Amino acid sequence: MADLKTIKVFDTTLRDGEQSPGASMNIEEKLRVAKQLQKLNVDVIEAGFPIASEGDFEAVSKVAQAIKGPQIAGLCRANNKDIDRGWEALQYAGEKGRIHTFIATSDIHMKYKLKMSPSQVLDAAVKAVKRAKSYTPNVEFSCEDAVRTQLKFLAEVVGAVIDAGATTVNIPDTVGYTIPFEYFNIIKYLKENVPNIDQAVISVHCHNDLGLAVANSIAAVQAGAGQVECTINGIGERAGNCSLEEFVMTLKTRPDILPFKTNVATEHLTPASKLLSTVTGIVVQPNKAIVGANAFAHEAGIHQHGVLMEKSTYEIMTPESVGLKTNVLVLGKHSGRHAFKKRLEELGYELDDEKLNKAFERFKALADLKKEVFDEDLDAIVADEIMASTEKEMFKLSHITVTCGSFAVATATVQMEIEGKQVRTAELGDGPVDATLKAIRKLTKTKAELQQYNVGSITGGTDAQGEVTVRLAEDDATAIGRGSSTDIIEASAKAYINALNRLYMKRERLVHSL
Ligand code: KIV
Ligand code: ZN
Repeated sequence: MADLKTIKVFDTTLRDGEQSPGASMNIEEKLRVAKQLQKLNVDVIEAGFPIASEGDFEAVSKVAQAIKGPQIAGLCRANNKDIDRGWEALQYAGEKGRIHTFIATSDIHMKYKLKMSPSQVLDAAVKAVKRAKSYTPNVEFSCEDAVRTQLKFLAEVVGAVIDAGATTVNIPDTVGYTIPFEYFNIIKYLKENVPNIDQAVISVHCHNDLGLAVANSIAAVQAGAGQVECTINGIGERAGNCSLEEFVMTLKTRPDILPFKTNVATEHLTPASKLLSTVTGIVVQPNKAIVGANAFAHEAGIHQHGVLMEKSTYEIMTPESVGLKTNVLVLGKHSGRHAFKKRLEELGYELDDEKLNKAFERFKALADLKKEVFDEDLDAIVADEIMASTEKEMFKLSHITVTCGSFAVATATVQMEIEGKQVRTAELGDGPVDATLKAIRKLTKTKAELQQYNVGSITGGTDAQGEVTVRLAEDDATAIGRGSSTDIIEASAKAYINALNRLYMKRERLVHSL
């Protein structure tokens, strides 16, 4: 096979991905995701937008200190204050720190959002790159809304920022508007009309509003782009960003027609996808390419027969190549702590001793209830006991008793620990979940709106754990909560309380940053 050109993978799960509704992550969670991105061997991790908040600043500086291997980028608007603050957080990454600065270049953004003329925008872009260059040689510049920018002006900006020292120039489809043919031609135009274009890597950054983010990114690579910006599970602003796993696996599966490769260690894709869902509570649709639950499931008899005879009849890539090990019977009730720890590590979880002990206790309790414990159960234990735990737990569930039935009015008696005190109440409801959540609302004196309630079973069988995800909204803040248990009423209570704790923490942070 002819030589394959290596395309850089710039992961922005922790920045653009975090802009997904309800996807905000705390610092510990961001570090966990960053460590998984390190295992994936992405080229660049965009860790946040340092000036946006204290939390973002701290997350970028912690990621810059902890991660070895990938470069670490931080987003900054094209002004001195953002760039200075950005470098303050990124400095710990040393020569691997990348300042990513941007300003919009389309007529519509310049006129209505920035209220700046094209020459003012050009000037700000050049000044921002020069300022960034005073800190690090590694500078990326993005022409926000590039796809709707007049081509001549786009070429002028790109040439000017390269002259000013940008080593990567990004041409984003900020609003997910383009189609592959058009995007190919934009990149080709820049290659042919910007005299110094070879002095920088062309990057692309596609949003998925028309479901074309991956296709557009591939078209751009065919036209000469050398870096693709993407996120795990395709999360991101609105309809999301180019999905990392889909982009990477497309190149890996079709080198015959796409002479490109990435440095990504694809066997870590499934653990990365699961980890992100666990951390954000955003579940992946079952038919999602590469990492959806059905991506490798063959339902029709004719397909099953074909795959049993010869896998390549219906499989264009192997489940192993993306790190999928389904329904692996991992451990039983006699398994020891060592085996448990090892399995968690294989799944991508590295827990400190205290958390490991907590998770192990929970595993033992589950193994008593369930005959078989699968990898998916371990994901849920870690999510529930470890990830769902917040830095501060204002509210804790102590226990719960529910009565219900075809002819009975559902009643829930809930006992909780609130600020160190045990409190208890009972409520009636339209079913046991309603009664339980009403009792929790009464005890916690909260009024958050329940925007989403999902219940699913983690594995098959009547003894399976139920997993509940809820989304709560109060004022301007939203929070996702998760809980799992073999009892779905208890799982619902845990998820609801988890979301309340997250909402409470968000509000506290907001008050401190005012
Ligand atoms: O979508 C976009 O244009 C962005 C830029 C800031 C790169 O996220
Ligand atoms: Zn974006």
